[in-house]
Amino acid sequence: MITTRQNFDLAQVTTFAIPAKCSRYIEYDQPEDIPLIISELQDVDRLYHIGGGSNLLFTHDYDGVVAHSAIKGIDVVDETTDGVTVRVGAGVVMDDFISWACDRGLWGVENLSGIPGEAGASAVQNVGAYGAEAADTIVEVHAYDSHKNEFVTFTNEDCHYGYRDSIFKRSDIRGRYIIHSVVYRLSSVPKPNICYPALKDQFDTPPDDPHLIRRAVIAIRDSKLPDPSKVPSAGSFFKNPVINDDQLAKIISIEGTDTFPHYRTDNGWKIPAAWLIDRCGWKGHHDNNAAVWHLQPLVITNPGRKASAADILDLEDRIKQSVRERYGVNLEPEVEHI
Ligand code: EPU
Repeated sequence: MITTRQNFDLAQVTTFAIPAKCSRYIEYDQPEDIPLIISELQDVDRLYHIGGGSNLLFTHDYDGVVAHSAIKGIDVVDETTDGVTVRVGAGVVMDDFISWACDRGLWGVENLSGIPGEAGASAVQNVGAYGAEAADTIVEVHAYDSHKNEFVTFTNEDCHYGYRDSIFKRSDIRGRYIIHSVVYRLSSVPKPNICYPALKDQFDTPPDDPHLIRRAVIAIRDSKLPDPSKVPSAGSFFKNPVINDDQLAKIISIEGTDTFPHYRTDNGWKIPAAWLIDRCGWKGHHDNNAAVWHLQPLVITNPGRKASAADILDLEDRIKQSVRERYGVNLEPEVEHI
């Protein structure tokens, strides 16, 4: 079924709850609806597809159509002695799928427990937390190609997954493929992943039930991140930057120590944006309408549901400027600006 609303306020369908109107908002619940919706569009490039709306900031009203998949269903499509392959509708809430997997003793997505968003977006954004990311378990992504008007399948390799990145985010491809289901491979053989320090601290021995990891992850999230149902935000606002040797040396000389968190990666040093922002004094900062979360400064919040996009962008700019001035590091938003 396809439902259409005119002049729709996107604050209702985005976790940041920032007002921005779109000309039309369309929701549908089966893959076959997608070609119908596309065929009736005047300009396919003015279609913006959203998932759970948990990583988005509409900076202005959107002069076009916003669509959302409400395709549900978690179906086992293959089962072997060591695991199952599951097809999940793009509109399934990621945490509902994770709970489903843990209830069946299936491993692979438990570290992503409590992550906001829906399955379709998990495949675009390669959502990640606590040492795991969606790409670790995704085997296929099923989509509709709105340019060639045909259904297509991407393998994990085709998706070119990286840190919060995939082929679906490439500027020349963005919006072309509309994902209707994601196929994950889960293990029935215990595969506890407790490499993330805050998680490792909670276990003396590796747990044998994915629910134990799920509970531990949810407890860590609750202790650091705002409750999405109470304090609107879009989760981590900035990406963790990768810096070069000179930038690292500069930070060490400013701090007079190298005991802050930083990790070697293939192309430099990864450093937590949260730490940089924290050192610049932003933790718990409050403007009139926008704020920096007091337990995790990577998160910008809209605590009274009164912030406009301009309020958020203004705070974003000031945070970026202070980190750039103090450390010479450019922060990039993780939250998508539309
Ligand atoms: N830190 C501080 N001050 C703070 C909080 C953190 O200095 O107030 C430093 C600490 O050194 C800490 C480090 O920042 O060790 C990293 O913090 P944390 O472990 O909370 O993770 P993060 O790098 O800030 C990333 C993801 C989160 C994900 C967590 C856990 C990004 C942009 N964010 O945050 O994802 O939940 O790891 O794996 O990669 C999201 O994408 O919306 C999100 C919440």
